[in-house]
Amino acid sequence: MGYKVVVVGATGNVGREMLNILAEREFPVDEIAVLASRKSLGTEVSFGDKTLKTQDLATFDFTGWDMALFAVGSGPTKEFAPKAAAAGCVVIDNSSLYRYDPDVPLIVPEVNADAVHGYSKKNIIANPNCSTAQMVVALKPLHDRAKIKRVVVSTYQSVSGSGKEGMDELWEQTKSVYNPVSEVPPKKYPKEIAFNVIPHIDVFMEDGSTKEEWKMVAETKKIVDPSIKLTATCVRVPVFVGHSEAINIEFEDFLDEDEARDILREAPGIMVVDKREDGGYITPKECVGDFATFISRIRQDPTIENGLNLWCVSDNLRKGAALNAVQIAEVLGQKVLKKG
Ligand SMILES: NC(=O)c1ccc[n+]([C@@H]2O[C@H](COP(=O)([O-])OP(=O)(O)OC[C@H]3O[C@@H](n4cnc5c(N)ncnc54)[C@H](OP(=O)(O)O)[C@@H]3O)[C@@H](O)[C@H]2O)c1
Repeated sequence: MGYKVVVVGATGNVGREMLNILAEREFPVDEIAVLASRKSLGTEVSFGDKTLKTQDLATFDFTGWDMALFAVGSGPTKEFAPKAAAAGCVVIDNSSLYRYDPDVPLIVPEVNADAVHGYSKKNIIANPNCSTAQMVVALKPLHDRAKIKRVVVSTYQSVSGSGKEGMDELWEQTKSVYNPVSEVPPKKYPKEIAFNVIPHIDVFMEDGSTKEEWKMVAETKKIVDPSIKLTATCVRVPVFVGHSEAINIEFEDFLDEDEARDILREAPGIMVVDKREDGGYITPKECVGDFATFISRIRQDPTIENGLNLWCVSDNLRKGAALNAVQIAEVLGQKVLKKG
């Protein structure tokens, strides 16, 4: 016996990827419903070798469904996730709405799978921000060995992280540079994204940081350890898929770069590609469509007592969203619902 699964936001970047991953990982699905806004009613989406027709979220009855993987923005999530949860369907949410709610577990299965048992307070589980998810997969095994004191991270985030509209804007602006028949002014982003980088993701906070940077701090504390200090600079780059991060870590205990490499090689969800030669590292293009979080450029930071630098790359639509959500569904199935 398998699960009755709903995918909410099935026409979007993350929703489509969730359907691909449910099929690829042979998640035990008995029945599946795909939902989006009214304007997408009847739109066809693929699930393995099947084609499914999209239904309207606003009129869908969640009664009798086991779990709903939400990938719509915070607005529709606020309206419909509590309805699904009240109908007895466990919500796994990709938006930021519930991530900081103490009654909602925030889960990266490689790091804190046991937190799943906290789902029952609201019948909701939150999926972290894309840049946090890939980073904590790398931080956790190193933290277990040498206790992290402080992290300094700079991100290089792809446009798919801001949905279909972000990808369209990069595509249209890039074309208009080569064929300038009409201008494509910035709409989704505050400045032109083609052939540019923008040090601004989400809204500004009072202290001058951005909400994306704040999310990395708050989510790392909730998922890994509240004692970790973290400072981030989040940057949007003209890459379609795949987020990269330059991470500097200060530990309480000394950790040799070779030992760190061995620890990361053994860690779940990680693939180490780290040769000190031309091309001996991973770039975002190479991680697209993969499940792993890739780690390269592992090296000692000689400017502090116990420091390491590394480069971390992952498919943001997968580990940063859809894959992590499906992994949470697997953990929920194995540890709680116990059907499949
Ligand atoms: N992209 C990432 O890397 C990433 C990472 C982590 C979390 N997330 C989060 O995941 C969510 C989805 O992101 P995305 O990148 O997939 O966005 P997207 O490509 O823009 O897709 C948005 C989806 O939401 C649906 N939707 C929007 N308003 C709706 C409404 N009122 N009722 C029902 N459905 C509605 C859209 O349906 P229509 O096609 O019918 O409009 C579409 O299926 C967001 O909360 C985002 O913050 C994304």
